[in-house]
Amino acid sequence: MVETKLVVKVEKMTIEDLPGVGAATAEKLESAGYRDLMSVAVATLGELCEASGVTETVARKMINGARDSMKMGFETGTEVMKKRELISKISTGSDHFDTLMGGGFETGAITECFGEFGSGKTQVGHILAVNTLRDDPDAYAVYIDTENTFRPERIRQLAEGAGLNPEDALNRIMVARAFNSDHQMLLVEKVDTLITEQGKKVRLVVIDSLTSHFRAEFIGRGTLAERQQKLNRHMHMLSKIASTYNICVYVTNQVMAKPDQFFGDPTQAIGGHVVAHASTFRIYLRKGKKGTRVAKLIDAPNLPDGEVCFEVLEGGFRDIN
Ligand code: GTP
Ligand code: MG
Repeated sequence: MVETKLVVKVEKMTIEDLPGVGAATAEKLESAGYRDLMSVAVATLGELCEASGVTETVARKMINGARDSMKMGFETGTEVMKKRELISKISTGSDHFDTLMGGGFETGAITECFGEFGSGKTQVGHILAVNTLRDDPDAYAVYIDTENTFRPERIRQLAEGAGLNPEDALNRIMVARAFNSDHQMLLVEKVDTLITEQGKKVRLVVIDSLTSHFRAEFIGRGTLAERQQKLNRHMHMLSKIASTYNICVYVTNQVMAKPDQFFGDPTQAIGGHVVAHASTFRIYLRKGKKGTRVAKLIDAPNLPDGEVCFEVLEGGFRDIN
């Protein structure tokens, strides 16, 4: 019997089709986390040289090749609008909070919540995870936990409150404990693997807290520049996955006392300009009267600043008038 071989025409370009990339380079790139054309297209020359060992000239060809294949460059406002139509919003369960955020927490963007201990930052992470899963039965949420404050019991309660099967909710949350800042950064790279290799539809990535390891590891004035550079790389990685895969990235951040501040709020967010600029939306959370929580929108590209009050209950968030 003659064996017939099915010839599958490869229509989709891969990293190996790029100029200057052979099997060995592709393998090196792959193990460094470059698995699709988009990751090469948005890489810097230095990153790519380091990852694959090629010269700058070759790296430039690779990046340009990837960019050409992806039609990156200018686009019309109409095209941008069309892309924005793919953006979805994740509800907090509080109508007021959602309205403040223009309908909920946006996919394709980074939202940062900063505030004192107990202000509700972790609660927001938990409720976003549950509502992401409720709104899309195929979706997954990723929870990168640096302070050991992820609580499956809490997810269970909130899932019940949202009318979602608690076991199903827990099954669709991928939790990882980050032990230091390097590990935290590696875990963000692993999100890519969950999507491209395991085919998981990740809609939300929570990093709770974004800054605690950085703050603990870089102590003293002399280390500030180094910390900020590293944090900057981390933020870049996060915004890359947010826009590449249309993921809602939610990060929490602590505040520190501003000893020289006499007027207004005497606290400020950790991470300075690096975190502030990389976050698309910034929310300041604080405790209000009688156990309530106040969320203040500080920074948003297309929304007015404002403040809302809500309550954290066993089954979820509720508005306060
Ligand atoms: P740090 O991580 O310490 O900086 O604080 P945080 O901003 O993450 O605070 P978190 O989100 O952990 O908020 C804790 C508060 O949420 C508690 O003090 C409670 O008021 C509230 N909370 C947590 N779980 C529940 C719950 O099951 N029911 C109710 N009603 N409130 C809860
Ligand atoms: Mg917390």
